[in-house]
Amino acid sequence: MSDQRSIDSVLVVGAGAMGSQIAMVCALSGYDVVLNDISGEALDRAVASLRSRMQRKIDKGTASPAEIDSAFARLRTTDVLEEESCEVDLVIEAAIEKLDVKRELFATLERLAPADAILASNSSSFVPSAIAARLDARDRFCNIHFFNPALVMRCVEVIRGPETSDDTMAAAIDFVRRIGKEPVQLDKEITGFVANRILDAVRTEAVALYEGGYASFEDIDLACRTALGYPMGPFELMDLTGIDIGYYSRSQRFADSGDPADAPARSVAALVERGDLGRKTGRGWYVYDESGTKAGP
Ligand code: 3HC
Repeated sequence: MSDQRSIDSVLVVGAGAMGSQIAMVCALSGYDVVLNDISGEALDRAVASLRSRMQRKIDKGTASPAEIDSAFARLRTTDVLEEESCEVDLVIEAAIEKLDVKRELFATLERLAPADAILASNSSSFVPSAIAARLDARDRFCNIHFFNPALVMRCVEVIRGPETSDDTMAAAIDFVRRIGKEPVQLDKEITGFVANRILDAVRTEAVALYEGGYASFEDIDLACRTALGYPMGPFELMDLTGIDIGYYSRSQRFADSGDPADAPARSVAALVERGDLGRKTGRGWYVYDESGTKAGP
């Protein structure tokens, strides 16, 4: 290594559950962070939710008020992407899982960010070569894929596209270590990467058992928690990560392979059609009250 710049500042694009928590993880680790979203309301919601999560840490004694204050002092929000907000060493995109939106965003980011900044997507649905297809900076592009909830989950997958440079991979992996996470390196891209492919196999079996009428989804979750030691069952986890996210990622896999076994499950498609997307809409497999606590099946 390396003529790659060291990473001190980060722009996170997209202030949903993932983007906002990724931004907070970076700020807590000492990075200067800009959190961008086209919606000012989404930014306000993100900061309010982060503030209450951080307050809980202070109340539990797992962080001091001074640490949290200085992290928030390093975190700036903006609803515009211009040269000043893009003056960073690393961009992490965590916007909606739509390929055309991501491609357009990266065309803008490539134009506005410094010529040696690393461009990364948190996408779980699209591999680097698909998102970066129209960029000149394909050597500076990779996926840096966090897990939900990003403040807590230690694994971060770093995915090399066919044209990602060694310097970009090394800098991305070093960054993941510096924010206290465990980098899992993929040397070759594959849809779903590693953890989601394994999770998907479990989820597929769980949904097949449910759709076959063998057991209720609550009992399948119970078996996973009490027999296999999972912190959450697959249906509870779908509600946490968003039913739509799994649905889109499965639809993408089906589009890539054409294999009907990869198509989204009937019961999952029905929830998406009804708009029951999990905790974020108050109802998915389970029903949630306003505080996000499970209120029933
Ligand atoms: N957001 C942020 N932090 C959260 C959270 C959330 N939604 N839910 C819980 N936490 C934090 C709590 O604040 C607490 O933090 P602290 O230790 O600093 O106080 C810590 O997590 C533990 O929380 P609790 O004691 O309340 O609850 P649990 O011990 O049951 O843990 C859990 C909650 C961490 C969510 C645990 O149930 C778990 O690990 N579940 C599985 C999550 C998982 O598998 N994630 C991967 C999903 S796949 C994915 O993300 C793919 C992507 O492509 C979409």
